[in-house]
Formats: sequence, C-alpha cells, structure tokens
Amino acid sequence: MSSPHDAVDSRTVFKPDIFKGKVLFCTGGGSGICKAMTEAMMHHGANAVIVGRNRDRLEQAAKDLSKATGQQCIPAQADVRDPQSLKDAVAKTIVQLGRIDFVICGAAGNFLAPISALSENAFKTVIEIDTLGSFNTVKATLSHVRASKGSYIFVSATLHYRGTPYQAHVSAAKAGIDALSAVVAIEEGPHSVRSNVIAPGATAGTQGQTRLTGRSMSDGTKKTFPTGRYGDVKDMANATVFLFSDAASYITGQVLVVDGAWESLRPPFLPYPESVVDPDSFNSLKPKL
Ligand SMILES: NC(=O)c1ccc[n+]([C@@H]2O[C@H](COP(=O)([O-])OP(=O)(O)OC[C@H]3O[C@@H](n4cnc5c(N)ncnc54)[C@H](OP(=O)(O)O)[C@@H]3O)[C@@H](O)[C@H]2O)c1
Repeated sequence: MSSPHDAVDSRTVFKPDIFKGKVLFCTGGGSGICKAMTEAMMHHGANAVIVGRNRDRLEQAAKDLSKATGQQCIPAQADVRDPQSLKDAVAKTIVQLGRIDFVICGAAGNFLAPISALSENAFKTVIEIDTLGSFNTVKATLSHVRASKGSYIFVSATLHYRGTPYQAHVSAAKAGIDALSAVVAIEEGPHSVRSNVIAPGATAGTQGQTRLTGRSMSDGTKKTFPTGRYGDVKDMANATVFLFSDAASYITGQVLVVDGAWESLRPPFLPYPESVVDPDSFNSLKPKL
C-alpha cells in the first residue's frame, strides 16, 4: 500500500525567506532529526549554530548544511550537561551571528534497558542530557530569545504517554521536558516568547531509531503504520518551520505529535511479556552507559 501523503521538502510549501536575518541555536544539530530541522530553517533564510560533543562530526555537519542552503552554519562544541560550555556556545553565537531568535533543545541519549538492569548512573545520565540539558539550554539562551521575541522547540517523544518497557530513563526524561516547555510558555509568554514541543514517532533512518530496534525500519512493516509509511526527518523539519513561523504566533505551550497516528495504535515494540521476563534474550537491551 502506498501512502497518499509522502514527506515533502519544506520549500514546496513555505516561502524561502520567512526566517531571513534570524538565527537558530540547535543542540543535537550535528545529526539526525535535529540536523534536518536545522537544514529546513536554513533553507528559509536562517543562519544557525549547531551544538554537540563530537567536534569532527559537528564541523562536517556545519559544512554540509552551509553548502546545502547557502546560509551560515557554525559548529559550537559543547556538552549540554555543562552549563558553562553552553554559555560559551551562546557567546560564540552572539559574537559571530549577533542574535538568537530560535532555540531547538534536541540533544538526547537513548538505549534499551529494563529497570532491573539499569544502573543509577545510566538513569541519571539520560536525565542529565535530556532534561537538565534542556534546562541548561534555556538558561543559557533566554535573555537573547527574550530580546528577539523568539521561540523554543523542545524535542520530546511519545514513549511516556504509556508505560513503555525498557524506556524508564527516557520516559522520565521526556516527561520532564514536556513539563519544562509548558512552564517556559507560561512564564515567558508575557515577554513575547513562545515554547512548544515536537514529539516525533519512530523516524526512519535515524540513529535513535536504529539504536532502539537494532535494525533499520524495513519496508515490510510499513503497512502496519496508519499512514502506510514511516516518519521521515522531513516531517519533523516541516513541523519545526511551521511552529517557528509567524503562522504559529498563537500556538504556545503545546505538544505537537508528529507520528502519523502511530501512538494511537502502537503495539508493544518488543515481544511482551517475554522481553521483560527474559531480558537476556535480547542482546540490544544491555545498557550502554
Ligand atoms: N529517532 C527517532 O525515531 C526519535 C523518536 C522520538 C524522539 N526522538 C528525539 O529526537 C531527537 C533526535 O534524535 P535522533 O534519533 O536524530 O538522534 P541522534 O542523531 O543520536 O542525535 C542526538 C544528538 O544529540 C547530541 N548529543 C547527545 N548528547 C549530548 C550532550 N551531552 N551534549 C551535547 N549534545 C549531545 C549528539 O551529538 P554528540 O554525540 O556529538 O554530542 C547528536 O547530535 C532526540 O531528542 C530524540 O530523543 C527521536
């Protein structure tokens, strides 16, 4: 079954210059979903700073993004767990690009592990990267986003809407992120700052998805998705362009689920109860931290 709604390039829908003169600061922008979000913003005129720990990958991604869009993309190496390194990345942004209008809090870590095998340190690390890292990013950028009357997007997930086995750490972390965004919307609304969450479903071709399932999404299971296709990074990028655009000026404090209605249907993604009774039967379930 083919889908009547394929993922499209944002340029087929939105004007090319809607973010002209604007600056995006994106954690996790060196790869996957957040790189695609950054690329789309740049295709519509924004310059960008991408943040991550791996300098080589970040530099390559910045070159790729600049080449693909003709806009400026600057790599800023930082660990979102370290507030000072984020403040340094923000300072670099202001020196080189002069302002920050939009922030994507997208840096995250994930792996599969049942609570019985999840170390305290592994749980803490995911909370530190996802939830605390998002808070640190807000703290480091807020004065600039207020000055530009800008907007935040937090990248969450749908795992925590139900009990998802092997995902206690990420479920707790993403629930915290959703709560954080809601408070940013309420506290910063009077300062003309908006804040929303994008909650992607399983997105084909991403690190996050292959890390969780241990394999790429194959054509065979596509038909079990309500839309007849998998999520694409372009779907997340298009939601980003919309939410940061003036067309969304009255949309704040919201969670936009971009999953083709998968969450409404989602069966257990690991065999249940076998996977919780015998975790050792799944090699990919070992904690990696
Ligand atoms: N892929 C999916 O199907 C899916 C589904 C639901 C939600 N999501 C969410 O979407 C976002 C992107 O996912 P993805 O699959 O595209 O993942 P990804 O390619 O692994 O991206 C994660 C990014 O975060 C950065 N990062 C990790 N830890 C960091 C730290 N301590 N400091 C700074 N940067 C850090 C990584 O760069 P470095 O390693 O260089 O630091 C990497 O660029 C995540 O928030 C994820 O939870 C993804």
